[in-house]
Amino acid sequence: MAQIVLFENIHPSAREVFLAAGLADIATYSSSLPPAELFEALRGAELVGIRSRTHLDAELLARLPDLRAVGCFCIGTNQVATEAAMMRGVPVFNAPFSNTRSVAELVLGEAILLLRRVPEKNSRVHAGHWDKSAAGAYEARGKTLGVVGYGNIGTQIGTLAESLGMRVLFHDVEAKLPLGNMRAAGSLAELLAQSDVVTLHVPGGAGTHKLIDAQALAAMKKGAILINASRGTVVDIDALHQSLVSGHLGGAALDVFPVEPKSADEPLDSPLRGLPNVILTPHIGGSTQESQENIGREVAEKLVRFAQSGATKGAVNFPELPFQDAGGHARLLHVHRNLPGALAALDNLLAEHGLNIVSQRLQTQGEIGYVITDVDGDLGDAVMAALRSHPITVRCDRVLAP
Ligand code: NAI
Repeated sequence: MAQIVLFENIHPSAREVFLAAGLADIATYSSSLPPAELFEALRGAELVGIRSRTHLDAELLARLPDLRAVGCFCIGTNQVATEAAMMRGVPVFNAPFSNTRSVAELVLGEAILLLRRVPEKNSRVHAGHWDKSAAGAYEARGKTLGVVGYGNIGTQIGTLAESLGMRVLFHDVEAKLPLGNMRAAGSLAELLAQSDVVTLHVPGGAGTHKLIDAQALAAMKKGAILINASRGTVVDIDALHQSLVSGHLGGAALDVFPVEPKSADEPLDSPLRGLPNVILTPHIGGSTQESQENIGREVAEKLVRFAQSGATKGAVNFPELPFQDAGGHARLLHVHRNLPGALAALDNLLAEHGLNIVSQRLQTQGEIGYVITDVDGDLGDAVMAALRSHPITVRCDRVLAP
């Protein structure tokens, strides 16, 4: 029975973070476990770290009363019943930003390779042809890069592209402050009409489904390049195939697809396979050693912060409260049903036990409220028992003053 249990070969950087924070009771597993063994491994654990293959469903969570927080050492959190976790007062953390740089570097590399027609030339040389020519090959310098979706990845790519001497236009549904010399395009159509390379960095979902369809592709410059390392559903693949085959687009690079193979042996089903001016990669935009290390550190830090101070900033299923230095002698983390009078009930109980509140922060989200309270006295067993048995309480823990 360990305080922290890590599955699926999480990068050792996570362990280093826990050890540095004084949390040394760690069990690690190199893979996921079958359900029965998983439960045994998790019994008594307070913090758990998983990647995409370990499923924490509502039933399993209900059998783990000691569990305080879950860390998904990846981007997605679909493998966890996040709503059920929230209703048990268990925040779930992930690592949405750790692979930003990895995606940005891949996209920029692909832009350069496609501008130079390297994919075609590479296969020609492998096939025994030495077609030495400058036809259709261009420098990136001075070309216009159109970034659709100016978020974490889009801004990073723009910054790297500017350092290469590219002009950067961007389009976003939200008003964004341009970095460097980048400029917001008046519209998506304007961006498409002016860009030599268009790169997509929007979220998936209904709002971006086939954002790049036949009409959008037709609006792009002749010979332009399209790169998609965001979500497969953003591009109409048949329309892209048509545009490439007709010679309207000069090339494309795709890292994500509407339907992706489930295993290493399953081939990608796509009309783009075999086209000489197309780079296809197996959704590895964010997959580097550095990103794995960053993910290990980022999620472990979030778990440590939560365990030691109650901070839930960055949780995907929970009211977010930022880190704050201790204001009192002891700290109480109280999760309650989001009903009128919940805070008053908590404060009255503390008062009844002679505890004065030094500072208090509340945040609510959906069906729960979360309060961090610093008090000037000891949070003894009697007050903890009273708080835990109160009908408004979902979960209640104390942490030493951080
Ligand atoms: P982000 O949330 O920081 O940025 C997305 C931006 O797109 C936001 O600024 C948002 O306002 C904007 N946006 C939303 N709808 C839009 C629309 N219809 N038109 C224009 N802009 C729109 O996300 P981040 O971290 O930059 O990730 C971008 C994409 O990259 C996501 O789809 C993510 O899943 C994907 N991704 C892919 C990886 C890979 O391995 N290929 C790795 C990491 C992320």
